[in-house]
Amino acid sequence: MAKIIQLSDDLSNKIAAGEVVERPASVVKELVENAIDAKSTVIEIDVEEAGLSSIRIIDNGVGIDAEDCKLAFQRHATSKIKDENDLFRVRTLGFRGEALPSIASVSHLEMKTSTGEGAGTHLALQGGKIISEKKTSGRRGTEIVVTNLFYNTPARLKYMKTVHTELGNISDVVNRIALAHPEVSIRLRHQGKVLLQTNGNGDVRHVLAAIYGTAVAKKMLPLHVQSLDFEVKGYISLPEVTETIPENERVPVMYPIGQMHGTYILAQNERGLYIIDQHAAQERIKYEYYREKVGEIKQEVQEMLVPLTFHYSKNDMLIIEEHKDILAKVGVFLEPFGSGSYIVRSHPQWFPKGEEAELIEEIIEQVLDEKRVDIKKLREEAAIMMSCKGSIKANRHLRHDEIKALLDELRQTKDPFTCPHGRPIIIHHSTYEMEKMFKRVM
Ligand SMILES: Nc1ncnc2c1ncn2[C@@H]1O[C@H](COP(=O)(O)OP(=O)(O)OP(=O)(O)O)[C@@H](O)[C@H]1O
Ligand SMILES: [Mg+2]
Repeated sequence: MAKIIQLSDDLSNKIAAGEVVERPASVVKELVENAIDAKSTVIEIDVEEAGLSSIRIIDNGVGIDAEDCKLAFQRHATSKIKDENDLFRVRTLGFRGEALPSIASVSHLEMKTSTGEGAGTHLALQGGKIISEKKTSGRRGTEIVVTNLFYNTPARLKYMKTVHTELGNISDVVNRIALAHPEVSIRLRHQGKVLLQTNGNGDVRHVLAAIYGTAVAKKMLPLHVQSLDFEVKGYISLPEVTETIPENERVPVMYPIGQMHGTYILAQNERGLYIIDQHAAQERIKYEYYREKVGEIKQEVQEMLVPLTFHYSKNDMLIIEEHKDILAKVGVFLEPFGSGSYIVRSHPQWFPKGEEAELIEEIIEQVLDEKRVDIKKLREEAAIMMSCKGSIKANRHLRHDEIKALLDELRQTKDPFTCPHGRPIIIHHSTYEMEKMFKRVM
């Protein structure tokens, strides 16, 4: 065995971070729980790129005293317990004193906090080290901004799934906390878009409505079981409700009848007749596939045997330089190559075969056209473009099994009814409508 040594604080924080902050959602959970422990009544959460580029949490809680601020970032520093007796009457969500130092050790973190008496404190940390300390305004409450999460733990970063998945986790965490704390008004936004807003009036039904929609919330039943030892309070949904939720969005299995004019697919099920635009359907399927792919944080890269070369004017190159990081995020890595040219040596594995050069060119074109692009829009447009490319055109005969596969894939999409350009994909005539048309019923 090698010699035993004492780990540095820095390293032990990073190890603790491995347990406490597994993913962006865990950061959100810890920070929101801290805000609730601090008796906040309003909590605002803003995340960018599913929390990987930034997580901002603002609360109106008790704040932290100027002299305690630095302590909050030391391990096992907590205001929530003092001795072991307190362990048996913990009334707060946290008490280990681990969350803040762990989060700070794997990110860039800024905290502005004030108790509302006198000036507040503004601390900035990088990788757990305090790099600046200033006074700030005395508004009561705490604001914490976490950026560049996992910047110094690349192994952790590699485990991140798609923006879609990470955001889903954040949403789940916040929904759960909101349900447990209807007395706190909680707002969650992703890239400025509101994903949840509760009013904090203490009524769980309102929180349920904010999460699942009023229709579902109305059908839920209150549950209250009490005994001498425990009490359970909550809401349960009737089985019929949970069944109708996915059904509202999903098309039931459709059985192929045939194809018309090499352009439309006819299909049926117990609900009636479906007429499907095959090109639009495939665009929708591909669009969702590519959007998931361009959203992936870690891209599997394919090296090319012969690098591609692209030529641009001086002016265009200036714009491209400015947006290089955004292009890199969708997997386009440009290296300057002599004057007026770039070379590209690799592309994401999933780029459609044979269309790599054209695709890269079009993505760059988008940046040039728009001048100001955000990553979300670029991903969206790149996905639309790719879905358009490989899709089956009208006037193409499809075999029965191809039709069946297409219908099944279409059903699985999030929005089987409209194509990425906004045109309809499915026209549905219910059995009842058909019977009415033929005057079989009134
Ligand atoms: N939003 C906040 N408002 C007021 N005080 C806070 C806030 N966030 C953290 N603190 C203070 O910082 C201390 C450290 O927070 P941290 O989350 O690291 O530990 P904890 O909540 O005590 O325990 P745990 O590690 O289980 O979460 C807390 O005990 C609390 O005193
Ligand atoms: Mg905590």
